[in-house]
Amino acid sequence: MAEIKKVAVLGCGLMGSGIAEIAAKAGYETWVRELNDDLVKRGRGNISKSLDKAVEKGKLEASVRDEVMGRLNFTTSLEDLKDCDIIIEAVTEDIELKNEMFRTLDKVCAPHTIFASNTSSLTIAAMAAATNRPHRFVGLHFFNPVPVMKLVEVVRSIAVEQAAFKTAFDFVRTLGKEPVEAKDTSGFIVNRLLVPYMLDAIRCLEQGLATTEDIDKSMTLGTGYPMGPFVLCDFVGIDTLYFIAEIMFEEFREPRFAPPPLLKRMATLGYHGRKTKKGFYDYSGAAPVVVDLGI
Ligand code: 3HC
Repeated sequence: MAEIKKVAVLGCGLMGSGIAEIAAKAGYETWVRELNDDLVKRGRGNISKSLDKAVEKGKLEASVRDEVMGRLNFTTSLEDLKDCDIIIEAVTEDIELKNEMFRTLDKVCAPHTIFASNTSSLTIAAMAAATNRPHRFVGLHFFNPVPVMKLVEVVRSIAVEQAAFKTAFDFVRTLGKEPVEAKDTSGFIVNRLLVPYMLDAIRCLEQGLATTEDIDKSMTLGTGYPMGPFVLCDFVGIDTLYFIAEIMFEEFREPRFAPPPLLKRMATLGYHGRKTKKGFYDYSGAAPVVVDLGI
């Protein structure tokens, strides 16, 4: 893996901070780019908190935490990423925003730099086409919470060269994750299966099949899933799920990907799940309580 020494992560939200954390933990000099100083401060704080928790739990030595933090560099400038060997984008699912960054980076980065996107629903082709390096552009789809979930989907677009794909695939292993290869269709493998499942759970609720709690209980106790579908919807984010469903519906034009009306209303009204403390459950108290959605 001599090819990758320096890693960049674009965006330090929930996914970006997790990716930066595991890259620095794996020993890479890691650069994190955020839009402004406030977001840099918040992102750095989230990574530091996550590492502190690991130290508290006895999973990480305090000295190792300090070394990991020492390998992390934060910037608001894209130019600072010019020497990085791989750039992993984890910003909002806005194709114009992503492509504007990739166009700039395409000019400043060396030809060997691999561009990667953590998109959960857009196609890699839609971003690769904005650059002059579609042959060195892959998808690296991580899962939430990044430090815990073992899988990374490595997405092979029709334009990528084998050498770049293999480098990205092997890089994932060095992060302590298990890579799988997926084709460049919206949702890749996991969301292709998971999104219709979550949408169907919402349709079951709309149709009065059972209560929120009983549907969640059924899937955890009946199938051993770690979270029921509504807890998972709140965990992923209602706005995110709505956005993914819209894009997947546009790609496949199949009703199973169409967002149900209840999901759309919740997204519109800001019931975005855990991050807004209200989704299918209310998280403002000591324990989550089911929200009355008028069903
Ligand atoms: N960072 C680091 N470690 C974390 C963590 C985080 N954010 N969240 C939980 N953990 C660790 C805990 O420290 C704990 O470690 P320990 O066993 O060594 O003490 C372990 O994970 C288990 O956590 P908890 O005991 O707090 O709680 P759970 O047993 O309920 O596990 C969970 C939490 C790992 C989130 C589990 O509920 C789970 O696997 N849920 C399903 C998550 C899932 O499906 N993710 C994919 C979402 S889809 C996606 O991301 C794709 C996108 O495109 C939409």
